[in-house]
This record gives sequence, structure tokens and C-alpha cells, in this order.
Amino acid sequence: MTISRRTALRVIAACVGASTLTLAAFSAQAQDRKITLGFAQVGAESAWRTANTESVKSAAADAKINLKFSDAQQKQENQIKAIRSYIAQKVDVIAFSPVVESGWEPVLLEAKAAKIPVILTDRNIDVKDKSLYVTMIGSDFMEEGRRGGRWIEDHYKNDKGPVNIAELQGTVGSAPANDRHSGLIEVIKNDPKFKIIASQSGDFTLAGGKQVMEAFIKTYGNKINLVYAHNDDMALGAIQAMEEAGMHPGKDVTVVSFDATKGGFQAMAAGKMNVDVECSPLLGPQLMSAVKDVVAGKPLPKRILTEETVFPMSVAAQTLPTRKY
Ligand code: AHR
Repeated sequence: MTISRRTALRVIAACVGASTLTLAAFSAQAQDRKITLGFAQVGAESAWRTANTESVKSAAADAKINLKFSDAQQKQENQIKAIRSYIAQKVDVIAFSPVVESGWEPVLLEAKAAKIPVILTDRNIDVKDKSLYVTMIGSDFMEEGRRGGRWIEDHYKNDKGPVNIAELQGTVGSAPANDRHSGLIEVIKNDPKFKIIASQSGDFTLAGGKQVMEAFIKTYGNKINLVYAHNDDMALGAIQAMEEAGMHPGKDVTVVSFDATKGGFQAMAAGKMNVDVECSPLLGPQLMSAVKDVVAGKPLPKRILTEETVFPMSVAAQTLPTRKY
């Protein structure tokens, strides 16, 4: 009886008791060949995303991992298609940054059936069965929202209010939009002087942030005391809209943002943004190390957290030259 190389590898894997080692992963090790990683990116919506893509690509090259990369243009169906194509191509590992939190079970069950391990980066998903992915590498968006909320509380501690907040939300249904909103609410909910008077998605883009802010200004004008933008691109768009309307962002309207990109720092150094809550896109090296560990059959923690901080405008000019993204 002749057996295929794949079957032989399966038998060897069973013999060495490699219960957590996938067939694909075992094959890569046994054949001492390059690991192939299929990465399904969200899109190119922001400066953060561009830096994240560069980080993933350069870390893959440094780690000598063969990277298959796709850009979903902010559409979940494109990401699902990309993941299916990686399954069909029998890659060793699939990683993706999910556009939205829900709706992933069917395609992840397909990856599981094909014994291809899945790693989440940047954004989390909402699934009951946590065995559908190996680990999640990225920020705690809820904590980022709380950090923004705590900064706001402190900034207005001697102010009776009201503090009218206009919120520029990220992509509808995405983890950072859901959590940065919830984190803020958790902190300010018991203080009636804070009121969210307007809240709408600008899809994490500069153009979206500008357009939504123009509409907010038309409806609420000078009633807006604070803009809470879920990322720097939308904050920068809102700043443009406010300046065109003769308002003074950073002075008569407080601007709170997320990411801490160079663009955010430049706006803070120019006195137009008051605080930037850091969210690091430089996840590539951690991802490649996790990919190698998965292939080697090493256990990984279910959650790998990124370390981040908060930058008020007072440190912007001195910190700007050290920013990497
Ligand atoms: O998921 C991370 C978020 O997505 C970043 O805050 C934002 O800029 C990006 O588009």
C-alpha cells in the first residue's frame, strides 16, 4: 500500500503526540521550508493602517516568512473571500484584523476544519467558541476609551459644564468604535455635566471626519465644547471643518483623539488638538513571532496586549521627533 506524503506526515504527527500541532504547521516544520502566512488587512483607511501594513510586511520579510497580503477595502465580505482563498491555498497560518466584530463563525469553522491556525491582530471578534482563533494581538480599545474619558474628567474638573460632546465614531460595528465609545461612557456616565449631543460614524477616514463635523457644525454650531474623535484621521478632518467655519480647535473646542500618529502630534504641536490616546500599529514583529510559535507547536497566551500611553498637547513638540508612525 502506498500512502501520500501528507498522510505520512499526519501519521508522524499523531505518533509524536503533537495534539496541538496542525497538519499544515507540522508540514512546514518537517519539510524545513518557509512558513506561508495569509494576512487579510482591513484596508488603507488611515495613517494608522498604513503604518500597520508596513509593519506587517517588513516584519514578515525580516522573519523570512512568505506573506500573502490582501486589502479588504473596509468590507467584511472581501475579508471573508481572502480568508477562503488562503484556506484553498493551504497556507500554514492565517492572520487578520477584522473589519467588524461579528459574523466570523462560518469562515473560521472552515479554517478550523482545514486545520489552519488563525491569529487575530489589532481588532477583536465576538465569537462564543474561542477555539476558532489561537491568540489576539493588539490594543485594549476599552481601556483606550477609559483613558480618553479620564483625561476629559480631569480637564473639566473645575468646570461646572455643561460639556457638550460631539463624537466622531469609527467604522460601525468595529471593535475600536464600539469600545472607545463604551470606555468613554463608563467613565463619564455618572457626571451629568457631560452630554454627548451628537454621534456619527466617519468610518475612520479624514474625509469622513470632515464631512460629519461639517454637519455637526451646521446643526449645533458653537454649542459644541468637545470633539471626541475615534482616530487621528477623523480628528484632522474635523479640525479642517472647524477652521473653515471660523472656529478654533484646541482652544474654544477641545479635541480628543486616538492613535497618536505623527499627524496627531503635529496638530497638538500646532495647538489644534488637546490630547492623543496612543494605539500602536507596530504589531508586525509580535505577529511574526506568534506565527513561528504556532508553527513550532508552542502554546501562546489567548491575549497579547500592546503597551500604550496618553499624550497631552504639552508634550507634543518634544515627543514628535521620536514618533515612529
Ligand atoms: O483598529 C485600529 C483603528 O483602525 C485605528 O485607531 C484607526 O486609525 C484604524 O483605522
